[in-house]
Amino acid sequence: MPLCPIRLDGPRPNSDELANDVRLGLGRRPKHLPSKYFYDARGSHLFEQICVQPEYYLTRTELAIMRDYAGAIAAVLGPEVLLLEYGSGTGIKTRLLLEHLQRPAAYMPVELAHDALSASVAHLHAALPELEILPVCADFTQPVSPVQPRGRRRRTVVYFPGSTIGNFDGADGVALLRKMRAEMGPNGGALIGIDLKKDPAVIEAAYNDAAGITAQFTLNLLMRLNRELGADFDLAAFRHRAIYNRIAGCIETHLISVRKQDVHVAGITAHFAAGEAMLVELSCKYALEDFARLAAEAGLRVAQVWTDAERLFCVQYLVRDAGVAQAGAQGCDGAR
Ligand code: AVJ
Repeated sequence: MPLCPIRLDGPRPNSDELANDVRLGLGRRPKHLPSKYFYDARGSHLFEQICVQPEYYLTRTELAIMRDYAGAIAAVLGPEVLLLEYGSGTGIKTRLLLEHLQRPAAYMPVELAHDALSASVAHLHAALPELEILPVCADFTQPVSPVQPRGRRRRTVVYFPGSTIGNFDGADGVALLRKMRAEMGPNGGALIGIDLKKDPAVIEAAYNDAAGITAQFTLNLLMRLNRELGADFDLAAFRHRAIYNRIAGCIETHLISVRKQDVHVAGITAHFAAGEAMLVELSCKYALEDFARLAAEAGLRVAQVWTDAERLFCVQYLVRDAGVAQAGAQGCDGAR
């Protein structure tokens, strides 16, 4: 199967959109920058390093679940699946899944970071040359126009691994699940990786690794704004802090201004007080019943859950909840 060119017609944010989002976010109280901008080339590389830190249990646990259950998952999904992935990391989990699927119709990754997308597509194509790959460089929170794969398609399954759903709190999470519901079609499904609630000390350690990689990853956002928007953030004057909010069930990652300072960015001056916290990421954790409730709000039903022996993480298969009338997909942006 020849490799399809990367479709660029999706709604991609340009530097105007980055500047707008930054101005908007710095105008909020508390200040809030969207985490989707973490993933430039350096950010994507640092994230891969986070994934192999001893404290960051998420990636290795999800991978172990996929190793143990890829066959069972593939059996539930059935033959001739079009796999529509939101985001595309290094693709190990995806490859495991695709290798177990029976005659997959095609693989369609939707990923904002062009470099990460072309690298993962090249890897996957080398490993599975028969598979049709339909890459789209776009923001997965925006509607994706459907494509017809060459092979027979029996159903569309949205794949959203990594617990990235946790970056979307409340209404944004429901909106994203509704969008999946629309894109999966009447007999489709969604396979989602979800981080489970557990001892807060374990969760906090995962977002404050001893090697300091997560701190570098968070601060890289400011480095990106300096480069792409000509901002003058002093990287030595902010520090990383991730705290688990037990009531919300979310890790809240902040950049703390170590002193009173002014920063010039995207045509505005942002004033920071000494000790002021700027929110840069939410990573929500769920109990099984929390997620079932969220899914129900989006007109979805949990069909199957696979988890590890320690119940740190789970992979869930969601299908449309029969009898729930739903409006179509809704756009959703904001907190990621
Ligand atoms: C890729 C969004 C799932 O929230 O755990 C890792 C990103 N941030 N360490 C997460 C992240 C800090 C990660 N997700």
